[in-house]
Amino acid sequence: MRLALIGYGNVGRAFARLLKQQRSAYPFRIVGIHTARHGTAVDQDGLPSEPEFGPQAPSAEVFLDAVDAEVAVELTTLEPATGQPAIQHIRAAFARRMHVITANKGPVAHAYKILKQEADRAAVQFRFESTCMDGAPVFNMVRNNLPAVRVLGFTGVLNSTSKIVVDAMLRGLAMDDGIEEARKLGIAEADASYDIDGWDSAAKTAALANVLMDAGTTPLDVDRRGIGKLTVARVQELGAKGETVRLVSRATRGPSRIKLRVRAEVIDETDVLASVHGTSSLLLLHTDLMATIGIISIAAGVEQTAYGVFSDLVDITRSL
Ligand SMILES: NC(=O)c1ccc[n+]([C@@H]2O[C@H](COP(=O)([O-])OP(=O)(O)OC[C@H]3O[C@@H](n4cnc5c(N)ncnc54)[C@H](OP(=O)(O)O)[C@@H]3O)[C@@H](O)[C@H]2O)c1
Repeated sequence: MRLALIGYGNVGRAFARLLKQQRSAYPFRIVGIHTARHGTAVDQDGLPSEPEFGPQAPSAEVFLDAVDAEVAVELTTLEPATGQPAIQHIRAAFARRMHVITANKGPVAHAYKILKQEADRAAVQFRFESTCMDGAPVFNMVRNNLPAVRVLGFTGVLNSTSKIVVDAMLRGLAMDDGIEEARKLGIAEADASYDIDGWDSAAKTAALANVLMDAGTTPLDVDRRGIGKLTVARVQELGAKGETVRLVSRATRGPSRIKLRVRAEVIDETDVLASVHGTSSLLLLHTDLMATIGIISIAAGVEQTAYGVFSDLVDITRSL
């Protein structure tokens, strides 16, 4: 399988390391990498994990025309208000009959239905396991293991940076120090206000609702309030009472519409939602046939996000 990567930051590089490690069992080959500032690299024999970049291709379309790849892997920065230019990158790949894997939740949050239709028309696969829980199986689990189940709603603690910030504030550190901790772990969004203001969670909420509940929504429709107003004094006061704060995503299917919400909620420390710290995350799916079923991912890092991309790739090869 020949791969064209659009975006080569934390996730892209971790993915390349994983491919190298798994090469003997899974002979996937990165034949092109296109970035915003570092330039573009193409080699049909396979690129090393630290390639020499040449001048940047004028556009993702030109890049995709220049590589002979079967799968495009979209790993560019999240733009939560529009999902662009990642949506355009994915459409360009479908137009060239390439399968697409993305860890970028923007396209799934903004344009899932139309992208899925375009993938179906081109008879290629569209996969995005790493978009919401850093590679833990959510979409693949529902598709493969919950036949006939209807997802009625979900509750999730899905943003890592906000948990790291709350835990840092509990230790008396400023919000910016917590953001810096998340940055050092390589898990903060390029613009960390997207994490703090709840945009990352809203995008994940919309993505989950679009795929699992056919919501046809966008992050702009999510009733969103982040942790930006939280103070050290408030976090420590709650801590003294055995409470904490989590940025909680909730989806509920009402009689006429699906309600989506992201809120900084005060939670008792004994609540299952408070049990995830740092880069751990939790998703409870409320269903008709399987009651409530949960997925928990403990201390996931960028390697697990890369693994989610890898698992999508393996799944695509199995489906061919
Ligand atoms: N980091 C995580 O743990 C994690 C977890 C789950 C999901 N994700 C998602 O995965 C995606 C990648 O995350 P990351 O941490 O790898 O981001 P990152 O380190 O900021 O890297 C982003 C990459 O995208 C490239 N890029 C940005 N805009 C581009 C454009 N218009 N055309 C071509 N390339 C472009 C950048 O190019 P330059 O290198 O030239 O700047 C960079 O290589 C994001 O959407 C993020 O939300 C990340």
